[in-house]
Amino acid sequence: MKVAVVGTGTMGMGIGQVFAQHGDEVAMCIVTGKDPAPKKEKFDKNIQKLADKEKITQEEADRIKGLVTFGPLDLAKDADLVVESALETLEAKIEVFGKLKEICKEDAIFSTNTSSLSITELQSLIGRPLIGLHFFNPAPVMKLIEVIPGLNTPQDMCEKVFEISKEVGKDPVLVQDGPGFIVNRVLIPLVNEGISIYADGLASAEDIDKAMKLGANHPMGPLALGDLIGLDVCLEIMNVLYTETGDPKYRPHLLLKKMVRGGQLGRKTGKGFFDYSK
Ligand code: 3HC
Repeated sequence: MKVAVVGTGTMGMGIGQVFAQHGDEVAMCIVTGKDPAPKKEKFDKNIQKLADKEKITQEEADRIKGLVTFGPLDLAKDADLVVESALETLEAKIEVFGKLKEICKEDAIFSTNTSSLSITELQSLIGRPLIGLHFFNPAPVMKLIEVIPGLNTPQDMCEKVFEISKEVGKDPVLVQDGPGFIVNRVLIPLVNEGISIYADGLASAEDIDKAMKLGANHPMGPLALGDLIGLDVCLEIMNVLYTETGDPKYRPHLLLKKMVRGGQLGRKTGKGFFDYSK
């Protein structure tokens, strides 16, 4: 199968790795038109790390690296499956799918890794069948994929994508279209609540996270998780939950807004609730 991953941010890179490790040919499409060389170098480094840790052989690493090409959107032209993982706004996704409609094969499956936008609305706006294929960060490690049909997504497309998810080694869950689907509807308000406790001065960031790790057996605390996901992404998801439902329980915390406005987005900018600059 030929796969095109559209968008080469944290999630796109991880999703591309999942398909390449499964043996698929992967076109990594850079939406911004930036130089593909540094992206390819970063991807190859991630694969090389697996070989250095002896999780895969050097031969396998070289084969995986050879399956992946970085370049412009045109690379998606012979893809059987397109996984869009571009900027998390409706406008950006409409624009990119508009271009993909011109480039891709008629029978290519269009999917989106949106973390909270409505699949039903996106499908209506782009005018072509669409399905949600929601991976979790870090995509090569996390077992879950949420498979999300919109109101008008064809049943056979849904079944096909569910099978593909299993074939690439994931354990998918079928979830109907609704803001935040399952995981983000629970997880992102949890991050928001952690921020609220921190803003109230009840404990240090370290102790809030320690409490949730030791008291609830979470692999990481809510503040480190927000930093991992990206505080900008957390804010976008809270905004969708809030505006779609109108329910005040989803109101994004003011400190979350402030940190995003100040460019303290977490790991990707070197600073969030914790410091990653060293
Ligand atoms: N890429 C590839 N592999 C990675 C990785 C990455 N970015 N980060 C960690 N790993 C691998 C490590 O190599 C290691 O593999 P090994 O056990 O085979 O050697 C394994 O994962 C465990 O990593 P570490 O030992 O470094 O650290 P931890 O045991 O603390 O695990 C973690 C790290 C997997 C991130 C774990 O802390 C965790 O599961 N955290 C919760 C993550 C989570 O909740 N993600 C969902 C976020 S919500 C989301 O993505 C939805 C979106 O729409 C916002």
